[in-house]
Amino acid sequence: LGQDTEAFVTLATTESYCIGAKVVGKSLRRHGTTRDIVILVTPNISQRTRLALQSIFDKVILVDLMDSKDPDHLALTGRPELGITFTKIRCWTLTQYSKCVFLDADTLVLCNVDELFERDELSAASDPGWPDCFNSGVFVFNPSLQTHAMLMDHAIKQGSFDGGDQGLLNSFFSNWSVEDIRKHLPFIYNLTVSSVYTYLPAFKHFGHEAKIVHFLGAVKPWNLPKEGILQLASVDNTHYLAILSFSESLFYRCVYVFIIEGYLPGGHLPFEKEQMEHRRRWEMGEMDYMGRDAFQNIQKMLDRFLD
Ligand code: UDP
Ligand code: GLC
Ligand code: MN
Repeated sequence: LGQDTEAFVTLATTESYCIGAKVVGKSLRRHGTTRDIVILVTPNISQRTRLALQSIFDKVILVDLMDSKDPDHLALTGRPELGITFTKIRCWTLTQYSKCVFLDADTLVLCNVDELFERDELSAASDPGWPDCFNSGVFVFNPSLQTHAMLMDHAIKQGSFDGGDQGLLNSFFSNWSVEDIRKHLPFIYNLTVSSVYTYLPAFKHFGHEAKIVHFLGAVKPWNLPKEGILQLASVDNTHYLAILSFSESLFYRCVYVFIIEGYLPGGHLPFEKEQMEHRRRWEMGEMDYMGRDAFQNIQKMLDRFLD
């Protein structure tokens, strides 16, 4: 069994998650993966979107929607829409592959990550909210109908403590945290920002090594409210980012830059007085076209992001 029996897999059950999934697929391609790129979709996804997905993914595979129908646990998570993440379990049925890497539709791959296929089931990174649990946005697994059946059985008998796939998978692979350190993926393979606690010095120290970022949480880059963009705009280099935000994939890039540079949702940024003044002038329409806001500088910024 070689590389041609390995694949990256993502999932989208709604049109809006398809926007994210396309970025996942494109970002894997851009960095030259040698593995297949597969998406699982549910029957409600339009023909038009499926066609668009087919131009990016090697395979667009139809799966049945599976819902935990567990409003009590989902209420704890604060995300009633995540019951359908049980559909993720369907990825174990991809037995045409010997090994796969699952990526949530809200992840972005920043470089080639094919080395993930050297890991065994079940490898994943810690969840930032409870590091003894793994986050199920990025994980390595071996498709198997037997494991799929055992997971279904586990779901029926034990349910999921978060109402979604992550609670189910963590109780199924319950010794992940102590079993084998090789199954702990480095955090740079599933870099998330928590609004509750963020280890900013570590972000500053290791953040630039990020390989996969994960836009975990209810607000996704593709549905950021206008105010969200304005909020982002309150940081240095705002105007450049505002320009970039017109493009879907570049927009991800911007949010990523903000994360690395210390944009913490719900947190506070240490503003430099001078930057505030610069922003105020920009917003008053007083651009410094011959100086700091010169097109050359904007272009330099664009090049840096595109690099
Ligand atoms: N998902 C989906 N449709 C939904 C909700 C989730 O297809 O309505 C899939 C999608 O792949 C998504 C994953 O399930 O990335 C997990 O959901 P999400 O990323 O929103 O959870 P979070 O990582 O924010 O907890
Ligand atoms: C999480 C994970 C996501 C998972 C969800 C539901 O926070 O990031 O991948 O689908 O919980 O369990
Ligand atoms: Mn996610």
